[in-house]
Amino acid sequence: MTKILTKHFDSEPKFHELEAYRRLGGYSALKKALGQDRKALQDEVTKSNLRGLGGAGFPTGVKWGTVPPEDKVPGPRYVVVNADESEPGCYKDRILLTRAPHQLIEGLLIAAYVIGAKDTFIFIRGEYQNQYDILEKALAEAKAAGLLGDVTIHLMRGAGAYISGLDTALLETMEGKKAWPRQPPPFPTVAGLMAKPTVVNNVETLSMLPFIINEGAEAFAKIGSPKSGGTVLFSISGSVDKPGLYEFPMGTKLRDVLAACGGPKAGRKLKGVIPGGTSMPPLMEKDLDIELDFDSVRAAGTFLGAGGMIVLDDSMDAVEIAHNIERFLTHESCGQCTPCREGSNWSERILERMLVGHGEQADIDNLARVGDNITGKVICALGDTVGMVLKGYIGRYPEDFKKRVKSS
Ligand SMILES: Cc1cc2nc3c(=O)[nH]c(=O)nc-3n(C[C@H](O)[C@H](O)[C@H](O)COP(=O)(O)O)c2cc1C
Repeated sequence: MTKILTKHFDSEPKFHELEAYRRLGGYSALKKALGQDRKALQDEVTKSNLRGLGGAGFPTGVKWGTVPPEDKVPGPRYVVVNADESEPGCYKDRILLTRAPHQLIEGLLIAAYVIGAKDTFIFIRGEYQNQYDILEKALAEAKAAGLLGDVTIHLMRGAGAYISGLDTALLETMEGKKAWPRQPPPFPTVAGLMAKPTVVNNVETLSMLPFIINEGAEAFAKIGSPKSGGTVLFSISGSVDKPGLYEFPMGTKLRDVLAACGGPKAGRKLKGVIPGGTSMPPLMEKDLDIELDFDSVRAAGTFLGAGGMIVLDDSMDAVEIAHNIERFLTHESCGQCTPCREGSNWSERILERMLVGHGEQADIDNLARVGDNITGKVICALGDTVGMVLKGYIGRYPEDFKKRVKSS
């Protein structure tokens, strides 16, 4: 099975150290990239079909191409690594930061070269103290070895807010403000950090760059499916025998992923699979032959997201799951948009009422109505999620919701 990011994880326990990383070819891609034509490198990334692995799946090379050229917009431009990973179910960035900090640093330096950024930032989830320490050490090693050149990598820590992982809220946080998402346009590549052109990319996305530069766009594209190149990491949990981090080529069938991790657990029936973290409806039994990439999962009515795969079985209840997710979203809603602020709270309370045995038919109708009144009517995707989860679970598991309605 082709692996890119985790290839050396089993055989080299010291992959996080500079010596081991370099011995295995580390920093050769940076060396190869420096001095090459920057536009040609950006085209190479576009050709590779690398998609943003932080959740949205936007083509990375295309995003980079929207940064205005220096002769049109002079002055600084920035690259920000989004290491805020807070989506329930996702832990792949944590493992990449722990096991392969130099892979990320090399990818970041390649991105900085292409974008023309001298100041770059790694914004890391506040709770990731160990990973912060590991990164700090790796950065010191890279600096001492003269690998950073004239680029500065600033480490910044989050303060425990899920919304800060959304790129525009992250930029507000970095500027010292409340993490309220911005309403684009302008997009960050045009006016980002301190209103300067800023590329925000996920840890996993940037970690792919050394392979793309070393092996070429074609080799990377060939590994994946036609419009999603390379591999993807799944953080797998739930009803499985072997939870953990898995790397698969983009386009691997859901059935094969479940076979590898042993899901659902013995004696249980599959109820669904949350493909990318709790902000989305599950895939169902009928989707077992779906090829897991951004477009195919979307066509099945949900999202690949950030690969936080949670396997659900028949011992689990959809109302409990939806309540759990809505409670999280109520807590994490930043409060800027009324439909999300109020709607998440209402839905949590209605679901709670259903859980304690006071559910009525009108509750199911109201939940669906609340969902309709949030999705598409708010600034950011957290709000969209509130509605999507409600409608997604009611639509897929109507029996679980009906069971919670009092017979009059
Ligand atoms: C509520 C919310 C939380 C998010 N959290 C993260 C996160 O923790 N890490 C991340 O990389 N992207 C997160 N994103 C996606 C980012 O907004 C953005 O699309 C991503 O960082 C871009 O990088 P990529 O193109 O490399 O995926 C989040 C989005 C939303 C709506």
